[in-house]
This record gives sequence, C-alpha cells and structure tokens, in this order.
Amino acid sequence: MRRKFIISFSAIILLVIFACILVADRLIHRGFSTRDKPSGVEASLAMSMRDVAIPERYKAMKNPVAVTPKAIHEGMAHWADHCATCHANNGSGDTMYGRTMYPKPPDMRQKDTQEMSDGELYYTIKNGVRLSGMPAFGGPGDGDLDSWKLVAFIRHLPSLTQDEELEMEKLNPKSPDERQEEQQEEDFLRGGSSAPQQPHH
Ligand code: HEC
Repeated sequence: MRRKFIISFSAIILLVIFACILVADRLIHRGFSTRDKPSGVEASLAMSMRDVAIPERYKAMKNPVAVTPKAIHEGMAHWADHCATCHANNGSGDTMYGRTMYPKPPDMRQKDTQEMSDGELYYTIKNGVRLSGMPAFGGPGDGDLDSWKLVAFIRHLPSLTQDEELEMEKLNPKSPDERQEEQQEEDFLRGGSSAPQQPHH
C-alpha cells in the first residue's frame, strides 16, 4: 500500500518536473520577445486580464460630455498631440512605435475597441494597461472632461475624414529636426536669414 503510494507520488512529481522543463525550454528558445506573435493561450489570457482589470461600474458608464462636433474636435486635437505617436491619427496603430510594441496598439476602428463601453474606454485612458506600453493619462477621478472628449473622438475614428486627418498631421508632435527645418523655411519665406540666433545673456 505504502509502496504503491510512493510510486504514484514519484510519478506525479516526475511528470511535473518534465512539464516545467518543457515550458522552460520553450521560453528559452522563443524568449519573451515582443517580435513574436504570442501563443493563443498568452493572447487570450492577456485579453481576459484586461477585461477583469476594469471595475464593474465602468461597464455601464456613459459619456457625460455631449458628443458635439466641438467636443469631437477637441478630442481630435488632443489625440493628435498625445496618442497618435503610438495609435496613429486614424487609430490603426500603424506607426513606427506601434508596430514594434507587444502588445501592439489595436486598430481602434475595429469592433473589439468600438464595442467597449464609454466607461471602459475612459478607464483605459485614465489607468493605462498594465504590462503594456499604454500609459495612464490625466489625473484621477471620473470627471476628467478631456479624457471623455477623447472617448468621443475614439467613437468617431471609424468615420474620420481625410480632411480631418490632414488637420491632425499639423498637430502631431514634431521632432527637433523637423521643428528646425520648419523654422528655417519660415525664416527663409520671411526673407530673413536662417542663421541660428545668438543666445541672450
Ligand atoms: C506609448 C504608446 C501609447 C500612447 C502614447 C498611447 N497609447 Fe493607448 N495603447 C497603447 C498600447 C500598446 C495599447 C494596447 C494595450 C493592450 O492591448 O494590452 C493601447 C491601448 C489603448 C486603448 C484600449 C483599446 C482596446 O481596444 O483595448 C485605448 C482606449 C487607448 N489605448 C487610448 C489611448 C489614448 C486616448 C491615448 C492618448 C491620450 C493613448 N492611448 C496613448 C499604446 C499607447
């Protein structure tokens, strides 16, 4: 009886050790690189973690800001400045940063994002997404109107027009090089010299 127990017990231990070696081996060979497409288990775990992470009361929360063209426009300007580096102006996530991240920013025009409630989008903006590149924005609380306007703009993404996208390109943050180039062009057009100014003392 005792012998039987010891034999089956050791068999279980051996199986567990074997499984650990298998998983470790996979990780060592595949690594945790963000370049790989995640395995199905990893991806669905990440998705359900995200759902669990949003407190229940946000699921039913509606945007307290009236969704007027003005509110959408303000959200659009904010998005172009703060969000487009990763998410792209049109929300596709197809940017230099977005492409190299894992998890990647999703195409927010698609139904996975559009089916999230206003409150869930708001919560994500305010709190970011753990273990991902999505940072938290703005102060705490449920009354941050700027973030609610961003929610209104996210709803508008699927019907973004070309004119709007062009307008956003002007609002995107510029690198120091681009800014200098623009400054030089402006100086040139004004007929001034493009030589750098002497710093004041
Ligand atoms: C540094 C890059 C980065 C910036 C800047 C950024 N995001 Fe994100 N965002 C991400 C990534 C990466 C994800 C995907 C996270 C995940 O799937 O776990 C994400 C996810 C989201 C989601 C969830 C979408 C979904 O379907 O799950 C929302 C909403 C969002 N971002 C809104 C914003 C807004 C609004 C801004 C600007 C105020 C912003 N993000 C700025 C990287 C960024």
